[in-house]
Amino acid sequence: MTLEQRIINKITEEGPISFSEFMRMSLYDQTQGFYSQGGAGRRKDFITSPEVGPLFGKFIAKAIDKCWFDFDRPSEFTFLECGAGPGTLAKSILRSQLECKDALKYITVETSIQQSQEHPSSVQVLQSMPEKIETGIIFANELLDNLPFDIFESQENGSWMEVKIGLENEVLSEKLVTANEIYPSYNLNTANIRVPIQREAQEWLLQASTILQNGRIVIIDYAVEDFRYNQKKNWLRAYKQHEQQNDPLKDIGSSDITSDVDLNQLSEILVPTSIQNQDEWLRGLGLKNHLEKSRRRWKENAHNPDLAALEARSAIRESEALTDPSGLGSFKVVEWLLK
Ligand SMILES: C[S@@+](CC[C@H](N)C(=O)[O-])C[C@H]1O[C@@H](n2cnc3c(N)ncnc32)[C@H](O)[C@@H]1O
Repeated sequence: MTLEQRIINKITEEGPISFSEFMRMSLYDQTQGFYSQGGAGRRKDFITSPEVGPLFGKFIAKAIDKCWFDFDRPSEFTFLECGAGPGTLAKSILRSQLECKDALKYITVETSIQQSQEHPSSVQVLQSMPEKIETGIIFANELLDNLPFDIFESQENGSWMEVKIGLENEVLSEKLVTANEIYPSYNLNTANIRVPIQREAQEWLLQASTILQNGRIVIIDYAVEDFRYNQKKNWLRAYKQHEQQNDPLKDIGSSDITSDVDLNQLSEILVPTSIQNQDEWLRGLGLKNHLEKSRRRWKENAHNPDLAALEARSAIRESEALTDPSGLGSFKVVEWLLK
């Protein structure tokens, strides 16, 4: 039976389901969900930063060393990568020159068993977060945008309707139902505005901040400061084989569903220590110098390139992709310092 048919059967038996429940089944059903099958194809114009090439991992390695020094070089330092996908970032980080190498305990947390089978053998692979980390970093690149969220729509009288998924002539369709719970801080005076309520992302942050005793939580994602003031169209996006198609009810199980992350909702759990664009954050870790060196090396050897010159040329391309102001460079790097 197809995943779509299973969702239809569930709605027939139980009535309309929340958008988060629909999303959980579509993306994470253990056998037929998009990510359980490998999460093939993500974005139209670009791929995630770890997939651009090894340069991103090199700079995350620098951020790990920096945090290790900031916490006085503890003998055990954990880097927990949550939503690690196929482990590409782990491979790049572990191939980098890490000063904290002997102290580093690398943990990946990935719900998809299929994806975690590709993680390097030297990392500890988990399916959910551990209970406690003494000192380290909890890191997530493009995870929070994929955690199931609910959708609410504002009404003229200041109330909210919840956008659920029901059936119309046995076909999946949206159903607006009176919201049982009105999200307290979302007072809007404009009707017909839809917002995602990202409770799972909030729960993730709460859990991460409870687990980690000392260190940093770092998330990187496309984000808005506050949905109430960023009524950006198309914040709800669906992708199939790199094509954006915007209808999450289509191609269930072979299409990704994602939203911009609302930093205001995360701040309600814990106020971030810093919010920077990826471009700025990477420059702070020395990307500009690295790029200049790579450019010089390529220029001097372009006529007869050796391996180092070819690596320099890749580093230039990767660096441009990671800092592109209309793409990955505009992603937000949000950090919480815990001590
Ligand atoms: C968009 S992919 C990002 C993969 C990788 N971080 C990257 O940037 O290329 C999100 C990943 O998070 C995983 N995931 C979703 N919910 C999770 C959770 N609660 N805990 C751990 N992993 C999760 C998915 O299976 C998927 O592999």
